[in-house]
Amino acid sequence: MKQAWWKESVVYQIYPRSFNDSNGDGIGDIPGITEKLDYLQDLGVDVIWLSPVYQSPNDDNGYDIADYQAIMDEFGTMADWEEMLAGIHQRDMKLMMDLVVNHSSDEHRWFQEAKKAKDNPYRDYYIWRSGKDGGAPNNWESFFSGSTWEYDEASEEYFLHLFSKKQPDLNWENPRLREEIYQMMRWWMDKGVDGFRMDVINLISKVPGLPDGAKPEGHKYGDGSPYYMNGPRVHEFLHEMNQEALSKYDVMTVGETPGVNVEEAKKYTNPEREELQMVFQFEHMDLDSGPEGKWDLRPLQLRDLKDSISKWQNGLHGVGWNSLYLNNHDQPRVVSRWGDDQIYRVESAKMLGTFLHMLQGTPYIYQGEEIGMTNVRFDSIDDYQDIEILNMYKDKVIEGDADPDQVMESIYVKGRDNARTPFQWDDSANAGFTDGTPWLKVNGNYPEINAKQAVDDEQSIYHYYRQLIQLRKTHPIIVYGEYQLILDDHEQIYAYLRHDEGEKLLVITNFSDQSVDFQLPSDVSFQAEELLISNYDQTAADSLPAFTLKPYEARVYKGV
Ligand code: NOJ
Repeated sequence: MKQAWWKESVVYQIYPRSFNDSNGDGIGDIPGITEKLDYLQDLGVDVIWLSPVYQSPNDDNGYDIADYQAIMDEFGTMADWEEMLAGIHQRDMKLMMDLVVNHSSDEHRWFQEAKKAKDNPYRDYYIWRSGKDGGAPNNWESFFSGSTWEYDEASEEYFLHLFSKKQPDLNWENPRLREEIYQMMRWWMDKGVDGFRMDVINLISKVPGLPDGAKPEGHKYGDGSPYYMNGPRVHEFLHEMNQEALSKYDVMTVGETPGVNVEEAKKYTNPEREELQMVFQFEHMDLDSGPEGKWDLRPLQLRDLKDSISKWQNGLHGVGWNSLYLNNHDQPRVVSRWGDDQIYRVESAKMLGTFLHMLQGTPYIYQGEEIGMTNVRFDSIDDYQDIEILNMYKDKVIEGDADPDQVMESIYVKGRDNARTPFQWDDSANAGFTDGTPWLKVNGNYPEINAKQAVDDEQSIYHYYRQLIQLRKTHPIIVYGEYQLILDDHEQIYAYLRHDEGEKLLVITNFSDQSVDFQLPSDVSFQAEELLISNYDQTAADSLPAFTLKPYEARVYKGV
């Protein structure tokens, strides 16, 4: 398999608003990140993915960009950004910026111009349509509740917004718009950025005619996703972006691609097609949702996780490349979700980290994951800030007749603010995140769960993550080895092998809070030589082929 630095890297995602506030305004900022670069270097990560820091009215915390080439005032200045980049590079790390070009903010100059008149040269940078039957042009539902269309009184037309009405979708059919985006990307790469994470990049091509989506019984809106996910020209656009911008630099790329399957992901990530290097797929993140979507709660079945992950591991092997993640700024904390954030918080966080970091692909760590930060339960909806949560609550409770307690429960389990509470640095006021009032409340468990405690404690999740990262750097089999699932039907244990040129790894993880007997299947040939890592104090290699796993125990053996 072809080797590459971006395959061998471990990425750390920073959500700047919640990371570290240097000036006491309650909002994390760029100088705050610069202060913490040593912490990240000590953890051992190679690349930082920075969620958007561009000028923005913050309808969706920076995912609504008003100027792609300026820094948000709340986060600092371009000089601060340059100093941060220099600090990252001095420490031999790299910086991946977030690229949000499916939509802009409605406060972007292009949209301001577009609104002025139908014949304004920027009008066609966005997607405008006349209404139909006295209402919106079609029945699509926005990701953030309600219609995807907003009416513009002045021109008597609607514009499309798959997300909030302050995030109008850009019209990628327009070549001038595309060239402006490529130019902007080259400008950042010339300034030294080392890659892009591309926000919902598989939504940029819409099916002409924008047909109505299927509308299930009892639903107000239709599902437009077949007409905007992986649309007809998306591969052409990404190939063009690659030729016009990416291929001229040695950069890392990952596309966020909801609704992508393995076959489609092969197209995005096969190097011969010259599009992207890897994608964030969502299949594993959707396994604990029912047919009504993310708020429709279901327990995870481990066998579903095995089926899904195995399909992706085997499907992309030798063709494309996987990204590996269990957390990000849109997902609840995985230790609360699929682990145990009470009695076995430390054990289960380490187990989940082991499971993920031993897979083939590039692992992503989300801020706070490395210290086992957990979900949060605020008493009141007023304590929440996320537009997705607030719109959904308004739609279901204030304007609908849903049971508020049930809706709050779904927010506790799935809401995005779970991941966005301020980073817990130490046990001082506001977890050491700010001297002011934090924009989103701190999780009340910060006196026990914080980075200072974790760095000081050799047995912490933080030190375990350091080890996981170091193992990847010293054992190429972790990066490149082929994956093989074993014990396919086991309901508590997820175990797999990795193979590479005569070497093998055996990864065994117990996803339950019970003790479980492990038995290496007789048709699996594995001679252990070394226990590489485990989350309990132990155990010699000679205990194979059978032993009892403790709750959430994880072990990785190297052997032949
Ligand atoms: C995906 C981002 O990760 C999410 O935070 C954002 O709300 C939407 N895209 C819209 O940009």
